[in-house]
Amino acid sequence: MEYEITDEQSGVARRIAVFGANGPTGRLLTGRALAAGRLVTAVTRRPESFPLQHDRLRVAGADVLDPVAVDEVIAGQDAVLSTLGVPAGKEPITTYSQGTATIVAAMRRHAVRRLAVVSSSGVDPQSYSDGGFLFNRVLLPYVTRVAGRTLYDDMRRMEQLVGDSGLDWTIVRPSGLYHRPAPTDYTVVDGHADGRFTARVDLAAYLLALLDDDRHIHRTVGIITTTDTPTLLRWLRTEALAGR
Ligand SMILES: NC(=O)c1ccc[n+]([C@@H]2O[C@H](COP(=O)([O-])OP(=O)(O)OC[C@H]3O[C@@H](n4cnc5c(N)ncnc54)[C@H](OP(=O)(O)O)[C@@H]3O)[C@@H](O)[C@H]2O)c1
Repeated sequence: MEYEITDEQSGVARRIAVFGANGPTGRLLTGRALAAGRLVTAVTRRPESFPLQHDRLRVAGADVLDPVAVDEVIAGQDAVLSTLGVPAGKEPITTYSQGTATIVAAMRRHAVRRLAVVSSSGVDPQSYSDGGFLFNRVLLPYVTRVAGRTLYDDMRRMEQLVGDSGLDWTIVRPSGLYHRPAPTDYTVVDGHADGRFTARVDLAAYLLALLDDDRHIHRTVGIITTTDTPTLLRWLRTEALAGR
């Protein structure tokens, strides 16, 4: 699909592919990218359920594990953002690593250099100052070493291959995701961020901001929201127990 380039576009990465675009973060990211004037290819296995329409939006039906489909998506892009996600479970998980390996290979073929992937604070679990005994010593180890073990193992594989990719990469580790209507003055630090929650809208805003900010290339960062965060109970009820 050919796009019209309009005056409102800014930055160097005009054409971006968003993997995981049909998830809650991916939809926010796609909407914000379009509002910022980007030309967006939203990648989903279920294009018929994608809710956004725009004259600068192309919705590509593709499985990230399909190298031919991914190659077609990546040709001609300036940057790739991935909010890909799969549910935790006991079975081995490979979508993060295999999918990202497919993306990286296609980016190399097409000389597309800028890549940002969403990982999780759970890949390197550390105590939180406001976590208390129950969260830090019971819930966090259970989620990261038992319930989410196969998921975090695969995220670690993804991080390794992104770090070794030779691309202009950024690995973004949010904490527990939750809904908030508008972005905040979120916090980004190298490595572990001392906060248990990240608003999806902040994560989306940061991923988009990365495209105009080369200072975050070759960095693995934690991003947290500190304004108006949910209680653990509310988060468990609305996010973890809602099957997200
Ligand atoms: N939930 C949390 O508290 C939390 C905390 C830290 C980090 N994270 C991470 O943050 C990211 C965003 O989370 P989210 O809740 O917004 O999204 P999500 O629901 O985890 O997943 C995003 C999308 O990935 C797509 N996807 C999955 N397998 C695919 C495949 N084989 N090919 C193509 N697309 C595929 C799915 O879209 P289609 O089915 O339409 O293809 C899905 O809607 C994820 O990486 C998640 O692991 C989450």
